[in-house]
Amino acid sequence: MQRLDLSKAVTPKFIPKHPRHRWYWFPHSFSPELVEEILQHWGLPQGAHLLDPFVGSGTTTLVAKQRRLQPVGFDISPLAVLVSKAKTESYDVQHLHAVKLQILDLAEEGIGSDQIDPSPFEGSRQLKKAFTHSEFQSLESLRIAIDRIATGAVRLFFTTALLSTLKVFSRGIASGGWLKWVDKEEASSEEIMQEFKRRAEIMISDVGQSLLPHLEADIREFDPLSEKIAASHFDAVITSPPYPNKHDYTRVFHVELAFLGKTEPEIKALRKQMLRSHVEGKLLPKSSEFKIPPILLESIRQIEGHVDRRLPKMLRGYFEDIFLLMENLKFATKRDAPIALVVGNVRYAGVDITVDELIREVAEQSGFIHEETWITRYRGNSAQQMARYGRTPMRESIVFLRNGN
Ligand SMILES: C[S@@+](CC[C@H](N)C(=O)[O-])C[C@H]1O[C@@H](n2cnc3c(N)ncnc32)[C@H](O)[C@@H]1O
Repeated sequence: MQRLDLSKAVTPKFIPKHPRHRWYWFPHSFSPELVEEILQHWGLPQGAHLLDPFVGSGTTTLVAKQRRLQPVGFDISPLAVLVSKAKTESYDVQHLHAVKLQILDLAEEGIGSDQIDPSPFEGSRQLKKAFTHSEFQSLESLRIAIDRIATGAVRLFFTTALLSTLKVFSRGIASGGWLKWVDKEEASSEEIMQEFKRRAEIMISDVGQSLLPHLEADIREFDPLSEKIAASHFDAVITSPPYPNKHDYTRVFHVELAFLGKTEPEIKALRKQMLRSHVEGKLLPKSSEFKIPPILLESIRQIEGHVDRRLPKMLRGYFEDIFLLMENLKFATKRDAPIALVVGNVRYAGVDITVDELIREVAEQSGFIHEETWITRYRGNSAQQMARYGRTPMRESIVFLRNGN
């Protein structure tokens, strides 16, 4: 079914106008309107447990909490978990104002360069490319001040403000699925402090205008591909797994992860653990029960020899990981629980990989029943591919399933 009225909602387009959602922006998010539309379609009762096993910047969990559902979110990225948690917490506005002033005072005056450990900066090629030494020191003094003054949710709140400040000054900019390096003039310490203050104030004003119900959101670092989710717990799932478009989130967010203290080997390990939507994933096979859909095998045969040799392996790995996810969701969701998977088709060497149809087939292997698919958007693939193979649009869809087990 065509639902092209959702073509913008399936992208992060509307996020900047939503209090709280706009605190931290991921280029691969969907907008709250998409979650609202799906929830309205289902009509879940208040208090229903809603899971997003790839929570990203927390769009699903925040809408769920606003709608008085019980939100649970998983992600293996500590950055995703941090910002998603910050967005769903309750805060006291007066307290936030007071803490903001203390953080700024301490960061501006109290932290001398002798108290700043230079080793994270010296040890990270990405941090050194993204910031000058003096910019890093200003950002780091804010981070130290936040850690000394704030605790619990308030610490997450100001760390989120700092992470969004960091994006403004970084010379690494997320562009599509990659980091593009640009030239920027060195920012002064005052400019960095002012930007942090401005962002913190927008966030505080958002808290004032978007009070949340008292419901505990459970958002944590968890890998739904290899760890078992609690059985029969969830009433519904809304999620968007990474698309098999080679984008690597650990590269897109490398600067932020390094700033959060992740070492290069830790970031590399995270890359290997990510769902195999990029070519540096784990080796095959992980599941003996997964049967590769014949259409996928045929598509792989057609592209072999025309693409990076790692790509066919990535595609098999991608659908095997989706199978592992569905096997897990089969036990984690209640009988007849509705599931919405937001997915995008891709094209390699002129061959369409119809992810929406293939995911349906893989989910059926795990006993899910396909209800319907909404086509929400048609898009081109990379500029390079369009130049080579012409612009035939590719679908971005929502696949609706039901647990038939
Ligand atoms: C497309 S994004 C989700 C965006 C989200 N819907 C939003 O609105 O912000 C996919 C997420 O899956 C996460 N991810 C990838 N592999 C994972 C794994 N094995 N376990 C948990 N999360 C994973 C990534 O870190 C990323 O945040």
